[in-house]
Amino acid sequence: MTGASWQDAPELRADPALAALVAQAVAVRERAWAPYSGFRVGAALLGESGRVYLGVNVENASYGVAVCAERTAVVSAVAQGERRFRAIAIVTDAAEPAAPCGICRQTLAEFALAEAGQDLAVTLVSLRGAVARWQLSALLPLAFTPRSFQVRPER
Ligand code: THU
Repeated sequence: MTGASWQDAPELRADPALAALVAQAVAVRERAWAPYSGFRVGAALLGESGRVYLGVNVENASYGVAVCAERTAVVSAVAQGERRFRAIAIVTDAAEPAAPCGICRQTLAEFALAEAGQDLAVTLVSLRGAVARWQLSALLPLAFTPRSFQVRPER
């Protein structure tokens, strides 16, 4: 919809806490370093403690070195001592909300799906106003997690 803004999305109007998380992802997206793709991504990861960890994509002249916004947020959270999460908001300016890449889904699964019954609310937002909400388990069915194998340090 021309002229539409993420703030007008019904899903966010109905959920001020989620809108506040999205607002942080919108703001941090401005700091993305994406001079090669021109595709800036902002992520806001809500920990169980209530703290929010922010991430942006950080590209590199050696293209393969790029890191996605979602992983930046997870790495920041883990470095600050938090490993259990309630929700993540991911913001781009794509026409349709962009879903996290496969590597980011796997990184989120390490912490979000590690225990039975765990899951993570993923909210995808386009600055143009479209919002999509998923559970991580639906984005990454049959995930390989720490529960998938027994650690065998002797091998
Ligand atoms: N990107 C993310 O930050 N998150 C994703 O899940 C998909 C892709 C970034 C990586 C790169 O800097 C740019 O978007 C274009 O692929």
